[in-house]
Amino acid sequence: MSSFNQQVVLITGAGSGIGRATALAFAKAGAQLIVSDINETSGRQTVEQIKEAGGDAAYITCNVADSEQHKATVAFALQTFGRLDVAVNNAGIGGRFARLIDQSMQDWEQMIAVNLGSVFYGMQAQIRQMLQQPEGGRIVNVSSIAGVKGMPMGAPYSAAKHGVIGLTKTAALEYVKKNIRVNAICPVYTHSAMVQELMDATPEMEERMRRVIPMGRFGQPEEIAQAIMWLCAPENAFCTGQAIQMDGGMTAG
Ligand SMILES: NC(=O)c1ccc[n+]([C@@H]2O[C@H](COP(=O)([O-])OP(=O)(O)OC[C@H]3O[C@@H](n4cnc5c(N)ncnc54)[C@H](O)[C@@H]3O)[C@@H](O)[C@H]2O)c1
Repeated sequence: MSSFNQQVVLITGAGSGIGRATALAFAKAGAQLIVSDINETSGRQTVEQIKEAGGDAAYITCNVADSEQHKATVAFALQTFGRLDVAVNNAGIGGRFARLIDQSMQDWEQMIAVNLGSVFYGMQAQIRQMLQQPEGGRIVNVSSIAGVKGMPMGAPYSAAKHGVIGLTKTAALEYVKKNIRVNAICPVYTHSAMVQELMDATPEMEERMRRVIPMGRFGQPEEIAQAIMWLCAPENAFCTGQAIQMDGGMTAG
């Protein structure tokens, strides 16, 4: 396992699911964590879990749809740990499961603000800081398999996640000479609150979702966390601008 000793890692939406699993995994590898979420209670629980395991972490509330809150989050990372080595733009929402013509303007605008605006605003604040550091930094943006394939009943979600990959590739190219690597991760259905909500609303969905994954199961947040860490590993220095699919073989066929 790579060591992240003395590395400062910021994760949005770290109060649950993939974000929490990633925060715990980085902390186990020696990183100092900035845990942010819109939900203070769950964000602080992640910090507690890290501390109970002997790690170091601090919490700040950040609504990722608000660019000012990203600036404040990066400033908090500097104040708390003195630098920012890694940012994982993970926070997101699932949105409403409905056909394109039944999605409202509000559904669309909220999805674009939370799942796409978040990555744009986040990277602006994070890259401005990383440019000040000779060591640069590494960013992982959490897209989705819906960012590389269409997602019937999820047009706004799929559009936002495709956009995340466009932002990732562009930022990677713009800062490739500045020692900043930017990659995206594209999970298929992964056990988390987001997917549980969907299955609770439409129980017959679970079997249908499972069937489209060749491995016959959903991903685990801890498995996605490992891929995110690999993308950020200091020794993985040649990888930038990629969108890595974590999908139990789904897109291989
Ligand atoms: N679970 C999956 O199947 C799956 C698949 C592909 C991609 N993803 C993506 O993974 C990321 C994490 O999702 P998850 O499955 O862990 O879901 P989750 O619901 O367990 O966690 C999402 C976290 O984001 C936070 N959040 C929501 N809106 C926010 C906002 N405006 N500002 C800050 N934080 C906010 C929530 O409070 C929560 O802690 C999302 O971007 C999601 O789109 C998930």
